[in-house]
Amino acid sequence: MAQAEVVICFLCMVLVSTSLVEAENLGVNWGTMSSHPIHPRIVVDMLKANGIKKVKLFDSDSWTVKHLAGTGIETMLAIPNDQLSTLADDYDNAKAWVKENVTKHMYQGGVDVKYVAVGNEPFLTSYNGSFIPTTFPALKNIQKALEDAGYGDKIKATVPLNADVYDSQANKPSTGDWRKDIRSLMIDIVKHLNAKKAPFVVNIYPFLSLYLNKDFPMDFAFFDGGGKPTVDKGVTYNNVFDANYDTLVWALKKSGVPDLKIIVGEAGWPTDGDIHGTIDLAHRFYRGFLKRLSTKKGTPMRPARLEVYLFGLIDENIKSVAPGNFERHWGIFHYDGKPKFPMDLEGTGQEKWPVAAQGVQYMPNQWCVVDLDKKENITLAASNVDYACGAADCTPLGYGSSCNKLDQIGNISYAFNIYFQMQDQDVQACDFQGLAKITTVNASQKGCNFPIELLPSAGEGLKLVSATSIMFLLLLAMVLM
Ligand SMILES: *[C@@H]1O[C@H](CO)[C@@H](O)[C@H](O)[C@H]1NC(C)=O
Ligand SMILES: *[C@@H]1O[C@H](CO)[C@@H](O)[C@H](O)[C@H]1NC(C)=O
Ligand SMILES: *[C@@H]1O[C@H](CO)[C@@H](O)[C@H](O)[C@H]1NC(C)=O
Ligand SMILES: *[C@@H]1O[C@H](CO)[C@@H](O)[C@H](O)[C@H]1NC(C)=O
Ligand SMILES: *[C@@H]1O[C@H](CO)[C@@H](O)[C@H](O)[C@H]1NC(C)=O
Repeated sequence: MAQAEVVICFLCMVLVSTSLVEAENLGVNWGTMSSHPIHPRIVVDMLKANGIKKVKLFDSDSWTVKHLAGTGIETMLAIPNDQLSTLADDYDNAKAWVKENVTKHMYQGGVDVKYVAVGNEPFLTSYNGSFIPTTFPALKNIQKALEDAGYGDKIKATVPLNADVYDSQANKPSTGDWRKDIRSLMIDIVKHLNAKKAPFVVNIYPFLSLYLNKDFPMDFAFFDGGGKPTVDKGVTYNNVFDANYDTLVWALKKSGVPDLKIIVGEAGWPTDGDIHGTIDLAHRFYRGFLKRLSTKKGTPMRPARLEVYLFGLIDENIKSVAPGNFERHWGIFHYDGKPKFPMDLEGTGQEKWPVAAQGVQYMPNQWCVVDLDKKENITLAASNVDYACGAADCTPLGYGSSCNKLDQIGNISYAFNIYFQMQDQDVQACDFQGLAKITTVNASQKGCNFPIELLPSAGEGLKLVSATSIMFLLLLAMVLM
């Protein structure tokens, strides 16, 4: 080999290895609480096109999971909270869970399962303690079932927890400790995770710090150094993320497990549904956050690089809005897999538009809007809007949201249309006591998008059924002839 070639090859090896390393600490959360989800095959292609190497799921639905086979994408499967008690009660249930939801995917060229998330933020105070008795027993049962199935070294069970499981005094990370009502439970859990070499998974949301506290210094939610730093034991903090993460580091130290691996299971910023949920602020958050991740610098207390799963991948229009209207707008992609803003997902130091989902199919370009000829009866609208918004997602209409500037007619049309789309553009879903009509003129206005929903992405199972029924009809026709 000539000298030049050696140099070039050396360079290309460096390039290849750094880009692999960059992507290694970044994953995404793939939630599927959508009325019209994008086909998982298309989502997986989108992950690959954007160089995303890790994914965290909220269940273990095999329709989703099987599409990750052969991709090399590292996967965190999950067990929803409502299954914790069965898994806690009986080890055989945990064994059956692992067999059906893990072992099945572990063949040559199968799914690269790395973690099982046992529950999701089960100790949120809003759950009123319901999952406190079952979470740890379920965690132990799943870990043991993984070991008994021969995956003890490769796959670790953990519990993604909200950052509200620990707190601090006067915002000093060094005072960090577990929340009082679960303190001894948390110590048992982190000792177990440490013994099993499993990570602690924590969800940290600067957005929520801002949302929940109107006096919160806004710049502290971002990573661009604005605002007044706080100092704790000689350590300076410029942003709430680092301070929060280090509060956890201190709590772990005090529990005797100072080196327990930490993964940030969720971090992100919503783009609608709140005065601070905007594309611009989300872009500001991700610009600073991803730049920070690409420097490979950790926090003051844990200088090693961070490992993070962004929340989330795609907007989810049927999530509960109990936490707030923003809850359906966390995606870095819109409902249809179109990116929202440029991002540095591959740690190159350069922002670029993420690659959109390819091959998504929409319903026809038609919208349901107020029929202006029926304006005299518009007083009937209120109850119809309530009905539509009870069944479909009207969160963009709320205060501070993307469609809040519509006039009354626009508002009603938004509700009519979103309901009509949700009902797969069924003609009967665009009546509303005669107030509505279907139009082919794009009804979007004033920065408010009136979406066209996706064609339902039928499962393979459904396709099989329809193929079978077509065969049956053909046979029937032949018999009758
Ligand atoms: C496997 O996971 C699915 C989806 O999370 C769940 O519904 C099912 O009950 C699990 N299987 C077993 C045997 O527990
Ligand atoms: C919370 O739990 C307490 C005690 O178990 C119960 O009295 C109360 O009604 C519960 N509240 C909610 C909102 O579930
Ligand atoms: C308004 O409602 C009344 C009562 O339902 C109906 O008779 C009338 O035709 C409606 N007006 C229009 C313009 O549709
Ligand atoms: C539009 O609808 C939203 C949500 O229902 C409501 O808060 C707002 O006041 C409405 N605006 C107008 C102009 O009717
Ligand atoms: C409708 O118009 C909006 C705003 O111009 C645009 O963003 C959207 O893509 C259009 N929808 C369709 C289906 O063309």
